[in-house]
Amino acid sequence: MDTISKFSLPLLLFLLTLAFGFWLSKVGRPYNGALFNIHKLVALGAVVFAVIQISKTGVAGPPLLVVAFIALGLCVVALFASGALMSIGKLDYTLTLTIHRIALAVLVIAAGLVVYLLNPAQLMK
Ligand code: HEM
Repeated sequence: MDTISKFSLPLLLFLLTLAFGFWLSKVGRPYNGALFNIHKLVALGAVVFAVIQISKTGVAGPPLLVVAFIALGLCVVALFASGALMSIGKLDYTLTLTIHRIALAVLVIAAGLVVYLLNPAQLMK
């Protein structure tokens, strides 16, 4: 099975997280409780299933892969922290939203790098 197929469930949950994130943003503050919780829980599901799949697959690849995984982890932490801060209204809203958006952009790049670097490793198995 190729990397994309293995990660199809977390990928689907990630796309749902994006959809609910933009929807939540569009409705605006005060946040709709249901949309906020769905966005947060689907994001958590995506992370949990991605970690399960990574632990099943094992990580074999160049050192850059480790860097990409560390970047992914940091982005997830930044997304959850900035999301929580936006919801409780702590810290500057523009700053936390910017962190949420930058962390998302870096996460997409790091995830792309992981998929790219994992593929040749899978072919060698
Ligand atoms: C993998 C994790 C996550 C991803 C990919 C993600 C993605 C997004 C996206 C794309 C938006 C729309 C931003 C925009 O309009 O430019 C958004 C908004 C938002 N997200 Fe997340 N998110 C994640 C996790 C979380 C978590 C865990 C929380 C809460 C604890 C959260 C809280 C929020 C809030 C409150 C907004 C609305 C921001 C606004 O006022 O426009 N997010 N998210």
